[in-house]
Amino acid sequence: MYAPTALEKTVTIQTLRKMKAAGEKFITVALYDAPMAAMAQKTGVEAVLIGDSLGMTVLGYESTIPVTMEQMIYHVEAVARGNRKSLILGDMPFMTYATPEQALTNATRIMQAGAHMVKIEGGAWLAETVRMLTDRGIPVCAHLGLTPQSVHKLGGFRVQGRDEETAGEILDDAAALDEAGADLLVLECVPAALAKRITESVAMPTIGIGAGPHTDAQVLVINDILGLTEQPPKFSKNFLIEAGDIPGALSKYAADVKNGVFPDDAHTFN
Ligand code: KIV
Repeated sequence: MYAPTALEKTVTIQTLRKMKAAGEKFITVALYDAPMAAMAQKTGVEAVLIGDSLGMTVLGYESTIPVTMEQMIYHVEAVARGNRKSLILGDMPFMTYATPEQALTNATRIMQAGAHMVKIEGGAWLAETVRMLTDRGIPVCAHLGLTPQSVHKLGGFRVQGRDEETAGEILDDAAALDEAGADLLVLECVPAALAKRITESVAMPTIGIGAGPHTDAQVLVINDILGLTEQPPKFSKNFLIEAGDIPGALSKYAADVKNGVFPDDAHTFN
């Protein structure tokens, strides 16, 4: 059984690729400040994401759409100060990567704030952007399924890829982004069987949230892990209840993912 310990070595994209090849799950947490980032390092969390979910979890907005570059940079800098070992992913906010050139300008700023990789939401239309960034040395994490920046286009925060047609579209998008050179792929709120097919078909490691147990990694938002969310999504879990304190909650989440206990059926869309 896995018991979390502090990261000894710096985690790189090569570390995560090796873990995928070895079938070893890695842990990701979306968090926003230096103390939590430091705790993640102590708990052995391989990747931390400064998600634009901070619009809702920290800033009190109803969606991620109002989040600005300045807000993202402020939080990326804080997390980078608190954590020297995990791989740091920084979200690019709404409409900051609508063209490849705009993406390059804004991704540069996120990287200069301390991120090791940027995350962008969307499918095959982003292939040119992924090439533009990765060719110039900026690693990219793609994000498919429920893409919260498109909440109004999707008609709400709902599970994606439930029927053959939309599942096929997500599979094609994943293939296009993989081919374009994306380094990681977040799959949010998709049926477990679809996430499994994608994980098996792409070279890049996949990170699931509400995507079942078969992805190469899991990510949860720290507020959900700590029970701070008023109406938590079905796929999230409050680990603080069982653990009793904050370091314990983070350790329990990490151990449950590594040991294949989380996500279980109750936290999966089938
Ligand atoms: O913004 C965020 O925190 C995210 C995760 C939920 C994957 O995109």
